[in-house]
Amino acid sequence: MPRRYTILALIGDGIAEEIVPEAIRVLRSAEETYGFDLEILGPYRFGAKYWVDHDMKEGWDPAVTEELIFEVDGIFKGPVGLPEWVGRLPGPNLPVNLRPDLDVYANIRPCRLRPGVDSVLVGRKAGDIDYVILRENTEQMYVRAGGYVRRARETELAVDNYIQTRKGCERVIRYGFELAGKGGYKGRPGAPADGKRRLTCVGKWGICRGDDLFRDTFKEVADEYPEVEKDYAWVDAWSYWAIMRPDYYDVVVMPNQYGDILSDMSGAIQGSMGLAGALNAGEGHCYAEPTHGSAPDIAGKEIANPTSIILSVGMMLNWIGEKRGDPRLKAAWRGIDEAVDAVLSEGKVRTPDLKGENSTSQFGMAVAEAVESQAQ
Ligand code: IPM
Ligand code: MG
Repeated sequence: MPRRYTILALIGDGIAEEIVPEAIRVLRSAEETYGFDLEILGPYRFGAKYWVDHDMKEGWDPAVTEELIFEVDGIFKGPVGLPEWVGRLPGPNLPVNLRPDLDVYANIRPCRLRPGVDSVLVGRKAGDIDYVILRENTEQMYVRAGGYVRRARETELAVDNYIQTRKGCERVIRYGFELAGKGGYKGRPGAPADGKRRLTCVGKWGICRGDDLFRDTFKEVADEYPEVEKDYAWVDAWSYWAIMRPDYYDVVVMPNQYGDILSDMSGAIQGSMGLAGALNAGEGHCYAEPTHGSAPDIAGKEIANPTSIILSVGMMLNWIGEKRGDPRLKAAWRGIDEAVDAVLSEGKVRTPDLKGENSTSQFGMAVAEAVESQAQ
């Protein structure tokens, strides 16, 4: 078992400045409490602002070499992007590039109503909502295979190709069956309504060919997982059912863009986008990042809720722990997750998105202390 794990920390744009240090603070408490060693490299700068400040030539701090990205045990990053530069920056700073490069094909986005958080859905209590959106992370509309037709110096036509491959469908669907079987990244295994381990396949088959392939592949793989109930929903219908009966869902697997959209909706369902953690996972690499964006409207005010990135780095520890067979890191994920619940349910320290008056760092400190005291 290696004694030391290397973690690369990247900042990003907007509220990333404020929330990334809180993730580091919590990782330091977890290290202390669970007895492992992390070498945290950085946090290094990257993102839209970095690019613009460096004559639109460099996407990252030069210390962040390609070798480093592939070498480290885990990466985590703050949100990236600024509205004035959307679509105007070439590449390496966008997660859409990092995801295929590292081949982190499974984007795990839990949606759990936590204690002390008011649901936007009437009558739902903590524990009533506990599902995971599993977003395919390397295909569909985000492969950016397409182009423009220009005439008289105007863009006349734009084409995006919806690409789904058998390999891409199969591996994320398998990941979904495994997650549902083990109850990974959830408060409890199974759907809150009936305790059943269930994998819901979401798409628009019969209309989109890529989704025909997604559903057909789901059916082929399904026989290998008799312990998991199979469920199907068209994506439009699922956006209705997720609100009407969120407790029915356990793990929900879907193509890339549906997952992008419905994981923001799930941010609302769990009470705040600031609570929505996420992990990009593959066979060889993982990187953690919140589901939300850089929120430039509230940047620099010290009011952003850092929970999303804190939960994300916790998930990253769990992934590394599984890969390296190190139970300390897996225990640290549980510890961080429970520490967040403890602070939220106590309700003394809260950021404004949850009707509190505390700052980003006050909340981060409360979680870090709770990590230490939970384990005693
Ligand atoms: C997300 C974000 C990204 C995505 C953007 C910033 C490219 O919205 O992680 O959900 O669409 O994947
Ligand atoms: Mg998104």
